[in-house]
Amino acid sequence: MWYKEAFSDRPPSTPEKEYQEAMTNGASAAAAPMKAGLEDVVVSTTEICFIDGHKGRLVYRGYDVDDLVAHSNFEEVVFLLFHGRLPNRKELEANAKTLSSTANRKLPPKLIAMLRQLPRKTTPMEALRTGVSALSAFDPDAADNSHEATLRKSMRLTAQLPTLVAAWERIRRGKAPVAPNPKLSLAANFVYMMSGKKPTELAAKTFDVALILHADHEFNASTFAARVTAATLSDVHSAVVSGIGALKGPLHGGANEQVMLMAQKIKDPAKAEAWIRKAIADKMRIMGFGHRVYRVEDPRAKHLRRLALELGKQAGSTANLEILETVARVVSTEKHIFPNVDLFSGAAYASMGIPTDQFTPIFAMSRVAGWAAHVLEQHGNNRLIRPRGEYTGAIDLKYVPLANR
Ligand code: COA
Repeated sequence: MWYKEAFSDRPPSTPEKEYQEAMTNGASAAAAPMKAGLEDVVVSTTEICFIDGHKGRLVYRGYDVDDLVAHSNFEEVVFLLFHGRLPNRKELEANAKTLSSTANRKLPPKLIAMLRQLPRKTTPMEALRTGVSALSAFDPDAADNSHEATLRKSMRLTAQLPTLVAAWERIRRGKAPVAPNPKLSLAANFVYMMSGKKPTELAAKTFDVALILHADHEFNASTFAARVTAATLSDVHSAVVSGIGALKGPLHGGANEQVMLMAQKIKDPAKAEAWIRKAIADKMRIMGFGHRVYRVEDPRAKHLRRLALELGKQAGSTANLEILETVARVVSTEKHIFPNVDLFSGAAYASMGIPTDQFTPIFAMSRVAGWAAHVLEQHGNNRLIRPRGEYTGAIDLKYVPLANR
């Protein structure tokens, strides 16, 4: 098993040992010691994504993300995740065409009308969750859960999510949504639909890299939520809605927004060190740091740090990045907790003028490819995911009639 090899140099933790012993002794899973938050519990095999938390390595379908960042693009990564291999030139062109076609990118007019009915204060994640759920009602393959139909729906969802995110941004600002431009890559088109202006080459490249880096991450919380939904033989739209709901929380995708709020609170790079030392002394949870799997710096952080710096220089301000660099230095040294993917992504997006509360929807725009790949894999070898809970409540209580309570 790949995970056994990957972790072979790591001695099993005490709960792991107890669990393995309990299982070897023929005890039921329910009798084995429980691990809060399913830490280190392997729930399924997967061929989509591999993380080595000790070496800080992230691999999609056998390819290191560092290589994909250097040589690939998001459209190719989508093919890789969905089909399990790199495309040839013809396949790549066809894949990019499907993802860029107006037919697949545009939103049904009735859906735009529906978005207009939402209160302006609706957060972008709420609008996205609502929009994806509604998209299912308009999808021609909605009732078909075959592999081919799920693949078509997955491609459409990947093409539609940027349009949905950008449309809500325009609508809440009282502006008309910008129609997608089929000549632009998925990344460039998103920036274009948000602002109405074609992005600089650096902005388009940065966005593309951010999409590659967020596309999948093994059995993270939102992907697990998506797989649990898919395992009931529910459809890909429902699984993606589950994923969006899980991603929204500040312990998962919502962390990038919180990081930027922290940088805005600190404001001045000269005050960053004192601020973060006080936060550590106050035992604050510092967003953008720590990870359930990585014990070293998240391999995605270095790419986003570099791009945030380049974009900051282009935009004429690197203050946010300087603040985050200081915070990273102090937290890493004092707490031995290292930056994760969410620390630097926001600084890059902020330099492009993207509002803070759109950072997590951008994460979803990329992760939809991972969620969908996991739905395809789950449906390909399905068994209902139904764990047990260890009951710690009362038992055999005698019912007390209302009048006697
Ligand atoms: N800031 C401060 N302390 C942190 C921390 C952080 N960001 N992340 C972990 N820790 C500390 C905890 O306080 C805890 O210390 P303790 O054992 O002395 O109580 C220890 O590290 C383990 O933390 P725990 O919350 O049990 O780890 P976890 O595996 O359940 O959590 C995260 C993982 C990602 C939820 C956690 O690191 C976190 O909350 N990070 C901030 C949110 C974030 O950036 N999320 C995006 C993840 S990509």
